[in-house]
Amino acid sequence: MSGSQVGSGRTVDLSTILPFVLDVAQQAGDLVLAMQAKGLQNVVSKSNPTDLVTEADVASEKLILTALQSRFPDFGFWGEESNQPPTTEYFWVVDPIDGTTNFANGLPYFAVNIALNKGADTLIGVTLELPAGHLYFAQVGQGAYLRTAGGRDIRLHVNDTSSLSRAFLCTGFPYHRTEHEDNNLAEFSYLTTRSQGVRCMGSAALDLVNVARGALAGYWEGWLNPWDAAPGVLIVREAGGQVTEYSGDPWQLTSKSLIATNGQPDLHRALVTSINTARKSLTSTLLPPTEPA
Ligand code: IPD
Ligand code: CA
Ligand code: CA
Repeated sequence: MSGSQVGSGRTVDLSTILPFVLDVAQQAGDLVLAMQAKGLQNVVSKSNPTDLVTEADVASEKLILTALQSRFPDFGFWGEESNQPPTTEYFWVVDPIDGTTNFANGLPYFAVNIALNKGADTLIGVTLELPAGHLYFAQVGQGAYLRTAGGRDIRLHVNDTSSLSRAFLCTGFPYHRTEHEDNNLAEFSYLTTRSQGVRCMGSAALDLVNVARGALAGYWEGWLNPWDAAPGVLIVREAGGQVTEYSGDPWQLTSKSLIATNGQPDLHRALVTSINTARKSLTSTLLPPTEPA
């Protein structure tokens, strides 16, 4: 793979950065699995009782921060646990464990997420699926790949399902779900009876890569943070998919809603329309009203 970007008087060669990021994600994954195997001592809640953080989230973020900053000291760092929005042109966007509730309960569907951004643009996205050890990655303009635990790289392609009734979907529910009716239950109910099925698996990062690899035709969720979505959005787009807000406008790093599909226009349009139709049943909303195109 090749590709370089010029910024702030320096050349950033993405093709040499990518292997380094893959290695850092792997180191973090090894640490997270070792800590889980030893037994977690400190599982506490953040915004509410359903929003967990463990000592492994903190240790994974520290490992990733230290490794990335030792090689790229002038790149900013936006990690979930430290959460300091960056002020630099280039910055990392990091979720040290995506799917912490699964991780803390021993359900094998969680991930390490690392993206490199230049402003609003994600240049590199890496999602390490744990405990399987599958490394999903993309470099902008170069396609999306899965490196298997055996070290084989497989190019990723979205599937070609175009009708909603045949679409296998996935979603997730926000941490405020017990506190407000705008909690995705209306959208979930609407789409469950109109699609092949809707799964809720608990890792936005992995839900996105499952769209990229064609296992899912689509995924939607509100109130994601940049670190949940940045790597996976690049991976979906590089695999031929489409990612928008509920309005149908292209998803951006700080968007509050996300629809990722295989890019089949009829299916994407059907999801946008369905979600907006379902949301009309809400008596009050936490997202700005959308006028789908
Ligand atoms: C969460 C997971 C979950 C999604 C939540 C995210 P965390 O991330 O991605 O699937 O539904 O919105 O916050 O808290 O496990 O890093
Ligand atoms: Ca997350
Ligand atoms: Ca997390």
